[in-house]
Amino acid sequence: MDKILVHGGHSLSGVVKISGSKNSALPILAATLLTKEPCVIHHVPDLSDIHYMLQILSHLGAQVERASGTVTVQAEKIRTIAPYDIVRKMRASVCVLGPLLGREKEATVSLPGGCVIGDRPIDLHLKGFEALNAAHRVEQGNVKVFAGQLRGSKVSLRGSLGPTVLGTDNVMMAATLADGVTVIEDAAAEPEVVDLANFLNKMGAKITGAGTPTIVIEGVKELHGATHEVIPDRIEAGTFLVAAAIAGREVTLRRVQPQHLDTVISALNESGFKTSTAGSALTLHGNGAPKALNLTTEPYPGFPTDMQAQMCALLSRTGGLSSISETVFPQRFMHVSELKRMGADIELKGSTALIKGVEKLSGAPVMASDLRASAALVLAGLKADGVTEVNRVYHIDRGYESIDEKLNGLGAQIERVKA
Ligand code: UD1
Repeated sequence: MDKILVHGGHSLSGVVKISGSKNSALPILAATLLTKEPCVIHHVPDLSDIHYMLQILSHLGAQVERASGTVTVQAEKIRTIAPYDIVRKMRASVCVLGPLLGREKEATVSLPGGCVIGDRPIDLHLKGFEALNAAHRVEQGNVKVFAGQLRGSKVSLRGSLGPTVLGTDNVMMAATLADGVTVIEDAAAEPEVVDLANFLNKMGAKITGAGTPTIVIEGVKELHGATHEVIPDRIEAGTFLVAAAIAGREVTLRRVQPQHLDTVISALNESGFKTSTAGSALTLHGNGAPKALNLTTEPYPGFPTDMQAQMCALLSRTGGLSSISETVFPQRFMHVSELKRMGADIELKGSTALIKGVEKLSGAPVMASDLRASAALVLAGLKADGVTEVNRVYHIDRGYESIDEKLNGLGAQIERVKA
């Protein structure tokens, strides 16, 4: 298995280009199953999660072509059963359920198991499909959803931990081809949901309200092919901002939508870092003495759970007492024990991390446990004494396009050791 060696102590400066959003590209690629016509998607990042999605689409019968960042999909004839072997590798495979149900009125996908960031159920997805008149049953580890006819209705997608992003995507996709009007209440308002809705509307869907808690979908008879450019990845951008905060002098991100990063920018400003924007460029200016913060993760537009681990890495070396409370995935703290192995002083109280800033971290062999946790370990290593050896880097390759090369382009010293 590949590992990454981060040689600490090198300052970052310069310009880095942000890739297309993984979390937008995945459901958008799944949405191409809703039409027989070709769809062309630009700015698709080169990531293992995207490769899995393209494999699933091919398995389902679609013709898939990829040339650099552009993917063309034509799903003229499709099957409705997604194979366990590929599905099990990526939880987001669950978002083919909505388009298959919308187009073929049935879909079978392996049930996603629990994962390291906690139990990740799909009850809200199924509640939404049920509201559209679909039934479901679980057999041999698969969930099958099916309907004679999909009918629009009103449904709330709020669970005990807030709205669901992929659940909103799934129900929105299925509802585009339902009879009548569907109203999703307590919908997720993430920019990736808006990007998907924009793509669906280009395909001929009639969706309004995406980006607010109420999405209205007027069903249409069929959808057609469309061309779309995926939005920039706000989590990759946020990760580079935090890298710059940890080890940077002045770092500029190119091709970002700064408004998608409001809460991350506000947190960094509160900690004393100056930022400036010019169109789609965003610059963070280094700061020798950042201040402690108290953060709480929340659904968009709140502080993103996908930035929690990276902020833990920053605050580990920030003087004073900081706290981060996790409300979206209360168990998402696998990185804490690894950061502690590097010398961080973090105490977990339920779903809150209490972080006492230390003078220095020291490099150590650490284990990546999930995508964002592994990014946090690389960031912590940028400023640690000596070498940080991050194992199981396949996690990081799921969601960051060439993170080692991009950081090295800014002056970091990171080696990838091939297994
Ligand atoms: C998406 C993102 C992920 C991000 C998360 C929250 C993708 C591919 N992944 O994941 O990076 O961390 O949003 O911003 O876009 N829940 C239920 N029942 C359900 C569905 C979810 O209880 O049926 C719970 C989850 O366990 C979690 C919370 O709701 O506690 C939010 O999860 P959700 O928004 O669904 O996350 P994903 O869409 O899987």
